[in-house]
Amino acid sequence: MTEPEVVLVEQRGRVALVTMNRPEKRNALDGQMRCAFLGVMDRLRRDANVRAIVITGAGDKAFVAGADIGEFEGRSPVDQYRVMKLPTIFDAIEQSPKPVIAAVNGFCLGGGMELALACDIRIASSNAKFGQPEVNLGIIPGGGGTQRLPRIIGLGRALRLILTGEMITAEQAHTLGLVEDVVPPEVLIDRAVALGELIASKSPVAVAAAKEATRAAMSLPLDEGLRLETALFQLCFSSDDKAEGVRAFLEKRAADFKGR
Ligand code: COA
Repeated sequence: MTEPEVVLVEQRGRVALVTMNRPEKRNALDGQMRCAFLGVMDRLRRDANVRAIVITGAGDKAFVAGADIGEFEGRSPVDQYRVMKLPTIFDAIEQSPKPVIAAVNGFCLGGGMELALACDIRIASSNAKFGQPEVNLGIIPGGGGTQRLPRIIGLGRALRLILTGEMITAEQAHTLGLVEDVVPPEVLIDRAVALGELIASKSPVAVAAAKEATRAAMSLPLDEGLRLETALFQLCFSSDDKAEGVRAFLEKRAADFKGR
């Protein structure tokens, strides 16, 4: 019997639906899954038919319930150092030129929460649960949670979640600004894919540049961020997409962007 694939990819129009597939372990991230995910993101980055990516978890219980805790036992600091030195799944999402949407369909904990935090937009089903429970294990978030969470929801709110390990509901996550939308479970994937398709209808050159410039606002001082924005704006001016977008507007028709 062959092993089930731990990361599934399905093409829906111009959107790739990526499913973390270890439902019996609440889609916990182990080494094999991280590796497979990195391979998938690399492939999707180079696939011109894919203009947006949606990430979700298999089954109806979890998005991703964190790092595989079983792998922590017996792992030496040096082993852990090596694991964390590898290209990370979080960087792969953030650095993807394509927009990445988290469709959070259940437990979104620890490394799963950090996976969602690395995504560009988060949509949650009404039964999703969020948390950074690492303090319960005597560790801290290690996939960017201490840095991305306060940047997204503010310092006090982030500290409350990280220091208590408390789980919150999708509605609470929405109130905190942690997710952009809460929808019934049965429409989650369709809504996330529709959002991906909406973005896919725009210029891929502009979308990639907009993602890079906007994300830079989280780490660059204002003057440097503004310089980056100007440079990327000028890059767009050299694209076929910009010529097409402007021409289509003037000709009162829909633009047909090629991503060049
Ligand atoms: N790592 C490894 N295994 C995990 C896991 C994780 N992060 N999360 C869940 N699992 C496994 C459980 O060990 C169990 O395996 P088993 O059937 O072989 O015993 C299986 O997934 C189902 O989990 P269970 O706890 O029975 O499901 P539940 O629906 O009652 O609870 C959670 C789900 C997510 C609330 C609970 O599993 C949990 O708290 N997981 C750990 C979350 C965590 O601390 N994440 C941060 C890690 S740094």
